[in-house]
Amino acid sequence: MQSDSIIDKIKKLEKHVLALEGTPTTRKMIQGKIQAYCENFIQNLKEGIAFNAIHEDACGFYDYPICENGYSLDEVLDLFDRSVDKPGLNAASGRHLAYVPGGGVPTAASGDYLAAITNKYAGVFFAGPGAVRIENQMIQFCANAIGYTGNYGGNLASGGSVANLIAIAAGRDAHKIKGANYHKTVIYGSKHMHHCVDKSIRITGLKECIYRDIPLDDKFRMDVGILSKQIKTDLSVGLAPFMVIASAGTTNCGVIDPVNEIANVCEKFKLWLHVDAAYGGLFCLLEEEKAKFKGIERADSIVVDPHKALFLPYGLGVALVKNVEHLLKSQFYEADYMQDAIENRNEISPAELSPELTKHFRGLRMWLPLQIHGVAPFKSAMREKLLLTKYYCDELRKINNIRIVNEPELSIFAYRYEDPSKSKKENNSINKRLVEEIHRDGKVFLSSTTIEGEVCLRIAILSFRTHLFEIDLAINEIKTKLGAMTINS
Ligand SMILES: Cc1ncc(COP(=O)(O)O)c(C=O)c1O
Repeated sequence: MQSDSIIDKIKKLEKHVLALEGTPTTRKMIQGKIQAYCENFIQNLKEGIAFNAIHEDACGFYDYPICENGYSLDEVLDLFDRSVDKPGLNAASGRHLAYVPGGGVPTAASGDYLAAITNKYAGVFFAGPGAVRIENQMIQFCANAIGYTGNYGGNLASGGSVANLIAIAAGRDAHKIKGANYHKTVIYGSKHMHHCVDKSIRITGLKECIYRDIPLDDKFRMDVGILSKQIKTDLSVGLAPFMVIASAGTTNCGVIDPVNEIANVCEKFKLWLHVDAAYGGLFCLLEEEKAKFKGIERADSIVVDPHKALFLPYGLGVALVKNVEHLLKSQFYEADYMQDAIENRNEISPAELSPELTKHFRGLRMWLPLQIHGVAPFKSAMREKLLLTKYYCDELRKINNIRIVNEPELSIFAYRYEDPSKSKKENNSINKRLVEEIHRDGKVFLSSTTIEGEVCLRIAILSFRTHLFEIDLAINEIKTKLGAMTINS
């Protein structure tokens, strides 16, 4: 009698749970509406603005608290449109020319869809041999692009910050840096290093080490002469130099540190060389650009971000380590309940090289676009961005009182309005106002930075949707806003 009532209850619950699966009809309806929304979104990108500074609508969610029985898809999509899609930056837009864009190729979204529906377990070879092999193939693709061969290893992380964290932890463990040594261990970096690297240093416990901020040369690159001298000085007073962090494409200026010379220094003094190439590294896919990155393959660890220069949607950064043993030493763990997986281990699994066990099968969002399109259109997009950057720089030079702060090496550079009759402070406020004015109508989205106390504008041309049209628009915005600003008052 009692078991009957349990069975009745189970069946009743089962019926209710079926709603989570839906039926072919409801799934088709939901997919159809989502698909139509996305199609409309893509078709409006060219004409739509890049930035909407009004953010009050982003509070619309508060009127739709999570409830027992949900809302209609139409209501939810409308809410998404008003409260998520419209406010703030449109990062998918080709007019997004700030920070480090990428755009988000649609076939990567199809990869995410496949990954989510199949829910293949990509953490461990035993559970998802094909998934793990795809992830390893994507790591191989990035490793080969930067010139790693042999016994390298890597991990597909959620982005550049986490990839840097994995790499720096690997360096720490390879050099057996323990708390007891922190007070005499030295790390060398530079001012234009991305702040996530500093964060990684802290999270890995290395913030208690001595940190040397190596000055930049006149091209904003790490000064190798000073680095070398500083290491010698540190050794002479009994300190223990450990790691040098170089950038291959700085966020501020898109500048590449002299990696080969830095590698010479690291080799001489037996230091771990980490290169944060999150932004720039994948430009190595272009044969004609490789010389700029000379020596990058000598680094002990490198980060590249496919959600930047490979134009994928946010959520993919790659940590690469020259000797996979170092990464294994840093991340490999065993557990009794994982014993079946350990015994069936034909290829190294992502879980053995990363803090993550269960993870998003993110390799698919890179693999599918590369499978469908091939590499050629990605390379063309990169080449287009490099030429657009040169074009933008040439056009800026024609504008009165615009100074190019650094000559573009890749597709990011800084520039600034500078009236010689005004003080640095006055010119700084003009540049701040210029960015604010550009943000106000949001036709294009540019960002500012401060270099040596000077407020500058910077452009980052890296969306696959940025073409000549968008760059002409940006030039026109600079001219129009400067013309409208009462600079002489
Ligand atoms: C050079 C560099 N390193 C690291 C990062 C951090 O990457 P993410 O934002 O993917 O965490 C960025 C982001 O712009 C970057 O430009």
